[in-house]
Amino acid sequence: MKIIYPATAITQEVARLGQEINRDYAEITEPLLLVVVLQGAMIFAADLMRTLTIPCTLACVRASSYRQSTSAGELVLDLGDPADHGDILIIEDIVDTGQTAQALLNHFRTEARSVHLCTLLDKPKRRKVEVLITYCGFVLAGDPFVIGYGLDYHERYRELPYIADFTPPAS
Ligand code: PRP
Repeated sequence: MKIIYPATAITQEVARLGQEINRDYAEITEPLLLVVVLQGAMIFAADLMRTLTIPCTLACVRASSYRQSTSAGELVLDLGDPADHGDILIIEDIVDTGQTAQALLNHFRTEARSVHLCTLLDKPKRRKVEVLITYCGFVLAGDPFVIGYGLDYHERYRELPYIADFTPPAS
């Protein structure tokens, strides 16, 4: 395991993203709805939210992807009840193939005044569908398997305060 982004670098990047969001939404009159994509984005979202000075509310969404199965690209979105059709910011930990983010953007586009995407990590090498990322943190070169700060390997390692390159054990 090799640390790619230590906790200090993550804190700085989250603060930078928060500043951008505060600047861009400075004039909003209704709270910005942060839609957190479970599970991975919860740690990023919790830290990002605490850098915001604009009014905001929070909702969570679970997007179950079927990337590994025959129905690749299909998504089941359990959207709960965001009950808000104003300005929406989707919070992701990572954009990989882009399928999750694209499905969420398309879904909310029809019912929100505005919808944008914020991701801590971007892995453009893996992209299968085009996605517009409005607020982008770290861009990963290549295709490392990353864990920590919300990202998992078989549900483990989400609690790590840093992001590390991880080699899954040979099966
Ligand atoms: C991860 C990540 C994104 C999605 C990105 O979620 O949190 O939501 O994959 O991949 P994509 O760009 O190829 O769609 P995952 O399904 O692993 O669930 P988790 O967040 O619970 O770990």
